Amino acid sequence: MPRIAVIPGDGIGPEVIAEGLRVLKAVDAQHRLELDFIPYDLGADRFLRTGESLPNDVFAELQQVDAIYLGAIGDPRVTDPKYAAGLLLRLRFELDLFVNLRPSRLLAPALTPLRDAGEIDLVVVRENTEGAYAGIGGQFKRDTPEEVAINEDINTRKGVDRILRYAFELAVARRSARRAGRVTMVDKSNALYYAHDLWQRAFVAARGQYADMEAEHLYVDVAAMQLVKNPARFDVIVTSNMFGDILSDLASQLVGGLGIAPSANLNPQTRRGLFEPVHGSAPKHAGKGVANPLGAILSGALLLRHLGAEEAAGQVEYAAAAAIREGHTTRDLGGDLTTAAAGDAVLRRLGTLEPSERS
Ligand code: NAD
Ligand code: IPM
Ligand code: MN
Repeated sequence: MPRIAVIPGDGIGPEVIAEGLRVLKAVDAQHRLELDFIPYDLGADRFLRTGESLPNDVFAELQQVDAIYLGAIGDPRVTDPKYAAGLLLRLRFELDLFVNLRPSRLLAPALTPLRDAGEIDLVVVRENTEGAYAGIGGQFKRDTPEEVAINEDINTRKGVDRILRYAFELAVARRSARRAGRVTMVDKSNALYYAHDLWQRAFVAARGQYADMEAEHLYVDVAAMQLVKNPARFDVIVTSNMFGDILSDLASQLVGGLGIAPSANLNPQTRRGLFEPVHGSAPKHAGKGVANPLGAILSGALLLRHLGAEEAAGQVEYAAAAAIREGHTTRDLGGDLTTAAAGDAVLRRLGTLEPSERS
């Protein structure tokens, strides 16, 4: 009985997770997956009440579950950066979820803002446990004209080797009759010539082990340009934590925007995983029923795949794509549905919506 911790979080998080859960429960019933959902009220309200993002006893429980399903965190009332660091980043780091997988696939031609976009089907493989996010640094003479502020960019050979290997393995797995398979390693080694020289050397070693796979390097500035110019050229993009954060938002907009972008934070060795939409808590949309639930729903599909329920995952993705193609979407995708009605649209295409549930 797979146990899934559910953290709706802040802002639009609870609204999109509610729809994601309806979809997961529907396919759970169809496929008899016997998923056990365990709710956690972690979030800004709790932080403001207790001063804690993630109490240690709760963290110990989250270490034991089969997957974590998270909405978003971030609240205008909380300005303390330790809040996000102590919750989302702590889970990524301390559960050692070193892969942040962020696919962008064009599900309907109308969703791209580009002319002649071609077939966009790429995955950003973002290193998720080090880089500029490691939280090493400090401030000196704060609030004086002499202030010094430092965030170190941590790149370990072990960390870079393992994310590169994951990217090559993913490209091998994605290879098909229509796609030869290509890994694009993105760095800024011309300027960050210590840290990203390590990426260069690790990449040379990794590509040597996958001699039949096309492998190329792009600097991050050119990668950003090429994503807009010719996104169909990309297959697997592997990069550092911060570049992956930025490029995945960019890539999401090429195929419809943050509202539909899913992500998986994974450790393929320990089989731990945290699944969340790429978007944040979008405070200005919270409580209005306008948020697009598809990013959360498609993250649920990634969760199902992680649990080995491939067929159920594929069904959810197919139903979501059908709803999009038929225009049954929220406003951000050009439709006129509420969050709940957009969830209904997916459920209906899964054939699981009871007449009494229809809105
Ligand atoms: P955001 O992703 O929350 O929203 C940016 C904009 O994207 C929104 O204003 C909205 O126009 C659009 N958008 C995002 N999700 C949408 C959805 N589901 N449906 C329709 N439109 C959607 O980014 P932000 O405004 O920079 O950040 C808000 C808060 O969220 C901040 O506190 C930030 O730190 C946090 N954040 C959290 C996560 C996370 O929990 N994984 C990710 C990103 C940002
Ligand atoms: C994301 C978010 C986070 C990140 C923030 C909230 C720390 O933007 O998941 O993409 O930068 O990783
Ligand atoms: Mn981000």
